[in-house]
Amino acid sequence: VPNSKAFSDPLSIVAAEMTSLTTNIHLLLGSGQRSLDSAAKYYVQSQGKHIRPLLVLLMSRAALQAPKADKFEPASEIDESISPLDILRDFNPANIISTIATSVREKVSSSAVEVVEESTGVLPSQRRLAEITEMIHAASLLHDDVIDDAETRRGVPSGNMKYGNKMSILAGDFLLGRACVSLARLRNAEVTELISTAIVNLVEGEVMQLKNTAPEDSITGVATPATFKHYLDKTYLKTASLMSKSCRGAAVLAGVKGEFVDAAYEYGRNLGMAFQLIDDLLDYTVTATELGKPAGADLQLGLATAPALFAWQKYPELGPMIRRKFRQPGDVETARRLVAESDGVEQTRILAETYSSNARAYINKFPDSSAKEALIDMTQMVLNRKK
Ligand code: FPP
Ligand code: MG
Ligand code: MG
Repeated sequence: VPNSKAFSDPLSIVAAEMTSLTTNIHLLLGSGQRSLDSAAKYYVQSQGKHIRPLLVLLMSRAALQAPKADKFEPASEIDESISPLDILRDFNPANIISTIATSVREKVSSSAVEVVEESTGVLPSQRRLAEITEMIHAASLLHDDVIDDAETRRGVPSGNMKYGNKMSILAGDFLLGRACVSLARLRNAEVTELISTAIVNLVEGEVMQLKNTAPEDSITGVATPATFKHYLDKTYLKTASLMSKSCRGAAVLAGVKGEFVDAAYEYGRNLGMAFQLIDDLLDYTVTATELGKPAGADLQLGLATAPALFAWQKYPELGPMIRRKFRQPGDVETARRLVAESDGVEQTRILAETYSSNARAYINKFPDSSAKEALIDMTQMVLNRKK
């Protein structure tokens, strides 16, 4: 990246751990069934962005300096009151962005934090957690590419094209199974529950995506609060849940105080929301060559993501098209034109920026460290990414 001078390279801080990541996962994925062995390893290659394990490792480092919990501090509950759904409860198209920003500003205290000397590295359990998140992600991609009938991923034939649908599904299941073995070996019930719930959420998010609109949406009107609630809820489940719960897991394994466990979770949740919003935006703005996977695919797949939903606020004629999943001839082209003529892409970017700055506010609660700086840089990188 030409202007990367302003940013540290987040990878460099956990370079040693990241180098061994792929090798370690391959060791966990060995199978006597040769075709299973190679199909399961297919999406665990170096071309991946590895953003989830990177988050886990950096969060692990950042948590090193945070105050430790008392021995008998009970496991804290996830604060559902700041779920993405609540953001839009008092929805007003004009102030959707400021509502989100305010609700978070109120929750984040900017208490001063002391700088502590950095010492040792990441715990073995935290490295295992990083591997587990990447295995779960790889499993979800294998299944996703079957569901989406994808032809490419990361610039090469997708798993379903290379190994077929049946083998892709089985390889995904195998990856999940091995991830569960690894999770069990952590001997940490709280982290096991968190990550198992993230797997459940991935499936729930994918099922929600099958329904484009909220059940209460009227196709003759424009997008409503329920429309956005449905979309953001889905986005949390399919993307932000694994990121947030694995960041939380890293903090739990570090044994830090509850407020830092919560901040780690909120950082991951907000970063994950920003990440997926940009993903949905790039589908409209970037070519397939740049993406390494099909572009403009969402409308083709019948999906109305944020750019189309914001456009729907302006153009009621998008409603029927969204409801029929752009199935009528010309729907995809018309919808693409209406999105281009609206400020849907711009609004999506603003929403992503808001989530990203929320993530920054949460990571700021941690004591200063190079890992914290890298996590702050990640909030900018998810916005700037082109693939
Ligand atoms: C990519 O989305 C897909 C996901 C983020 C999750 C997919 C989840 C499942 C298929 C449920 C099964 C889950 C497991 C754990 C086996 P996308 O299609 O929007 O992105 P893409 O453009 O990268 O394909
Ligand atoms: Mg897909
Ligand atoms: Mg999909």
